[in-house]
Amino acid sequence: MCGIAGFFGHQVCEDILINFLEKLEYRGYDSSGIAVKNKNNINLVKGTYKINELKEVVKTKTTNSCGIAHTRWATHGKANKDNSHPHYSANKVWFAVHNGIIENYASLKNKLINCNIKFSSETDSEVIPQLLEYNNVKNIYEFIDTINMLKGAYAICAFNNFDNSLYLAKYKNPLYIAEFNNEFFIASDPICFNEITKNYYTLNDNEFCIVSDNKLCFYNNKHKKINKKQNLLNSKYLKCSKENYSTFMEKEINEIPKVLKNILTEYKKNNYFEHITSDFLDVKRVVIIGCGTAYHSGLIGAKYLESVLNIPISVELASEFLCGNPIINNTTSYIFVSQSGETADTINALNLVKNKCKNTIAITNVTYSTIAQNVDIVLPVFAGPEIAVASTKAYNAQLLVFYLFSEYLKNFKLETKFFNKINGEIKKINIATLYHFDKLTKIISNFDSLFILGKFKDYFTALEASLKIREITYSNCSALPCGELKHGTLALVSNKTTCIIISTNKLLHSKTISAINEIKARLGKIVLVTNSVESFKDCSLIDYLIKLPNVDENLIDLVSVIPFQLFALQLSLTKKINPDKPRNLAKSVTVE
Ligand code: M6R
Repeated sequence: MCGIAGFFGHQVCEDILINFLEKLEYRGYDSSGIAVKNKNNINLVKGTYKINELKEVVKTKTTNSCGIAHTRWATHGKANKDNSHPHYSANKVWFAVHNGIIENYASLKNKLINCNIKFSSETDSEVIPQLLEYNNVKNIYEFIDTINMLKGAYAICAFNNFDNSLYLAKYKNPLYIAEFNNEFFIASDPICFNEITKNYYTLNDNEFCIVSDNKLCFYNNKHKKINKKQNLLNSKYLKCSKENYSTFMEKEINEIPKVLKNILTEYKKNNYFEHITSDFLDVKRVVIIGCGTAYHSGLIGAKYLESVLNIPISVELASEFLCGNPIINNTTSYIFVSQSGETADTINALNLVKNKCKNTIAITNVTYSTIAQNVDIVLPVFAGPEIAVASTKAYNAQLLVFYLFSEYLKNFKLETKFFNKINGEIKKINIATLYHFDKLTKIISNFDSLFILGKFKDYFTALEASLKIREITYSNCSALPCGELKHGTLALVSNKTTCIIISTNKLLHSKTISAINEIKARLGKIVLVTNSVESFKDCSLIDYLIKLPNVDENLIDLVSVIPFQLFALQLSLTKKINPDKPRNLAKSVTVE
């Protein structure tokens, strides 16, 4: 969601800013814009442009200057030129780009309108430059005071027409700054800096920065200058080109075996669990929290942990967890699952429990993210940048980390023998054998009623599979536990219905066969996804079989989802949808 770029230096400002916006495209956006200072002029271009279109319409090449740029994912007001960023004040004194939501914008805007200030957009963000001009802000201290008037969430990068500086502010939305060769780079994701420098600063909540005259100065919200240490970007897993694939999503699915191997290599090399001692077990409850795909991996992860911990484990959707009054105490450990580490609902849930619970753990792909920075223990998943909006490899990676975690808790160590065994199992995953689209489309005729069914962990895989299909094919698809069919949904089953049933648990195959019979009796079509073809050999009611490799039963969940990831991808492409950027969705959901 929304991306910010800023630059202060001698190179061509427009080139740097557009290059950064390209790197931020993965976050999802529906408009873009750029404003660059050129002596006393400000060149502003914005509209519902894709970045390659923006590149074409930006004609200026400004050196020795500064500028700001933005990709917008519409929240307040539709995607159009006026609503896109940068926004500017009535007399074009202040220009700003903003990520987040200004919750008190309506009252601030009304106050300014009552003072005859003309607004040109429907956004909450425009209130920022307007307020800066109205308050006659002339320096960083006045900037801090004005920004302190805002409520909500923000990362802000602003400049004005009277001094040569960039003004930055951050609260609940990420903002990073890098310095190299007397030039300064600003972005919502330090991935932008990768080819420039590995060192960068993280602006924390309620911190401000002014970039001017070849220097950076950081302040807290009480005007006090602060010293900040630089962070080091671990570039090993930061490569993010499509390589020879036509979409990032296909590339990312095909990377799954490599990602799983990376996890084993990294966890063998470093004991990321070292701070999880027997003390961790000295709790009465574990709560796992996430959204979307991360929530689904939490559901399966809970089953892995439950098999070794003799305590209740609940899994919560972050957005739901925030409703009501959740019971939080120091006898509970919380695990936050998030690919990006920037999901607003998950961050809010973390903020709610932090300092009130026993400990907080993050399972995340982005170790510099807000969530990673704010928990006690980080368990990285080493999936590398996940660019496609639909999460795939990060999900499989989260499951493996959950599994390693549960195995670690048995004896508080993981032996080389164990790593070698898992490595052997992973070698059995051959993505090419899991493409079934052509044959499946012949069976599945009516997408209006596609169900994915499973029992126990297979039901959670079904939830993830159906989310993938909805998200990138725009087709309705529901998931339900096999046993629930007869409690209502069977009413929808007819000869136009296809049910894809996942069955990977030996002990539950007989129940799967009951569900198959119930569906077939109503003439529904059956696709079975299993690693145990033998158990179904007497069942003649299956229209199509997807055979999974025979991997260890604990790792089967990492594999059983792959045919669905591939199916969703191929269906999306057939429908001429871009699976990397489905409509209405953003990669990193930084608003509540
Ligand atoms: O970055 P996170 O894992 O916190 O993101 C959570 C969800 O927004 C995300 O998994 C979403 O459901 C995916 N787009 C699904 O493919």
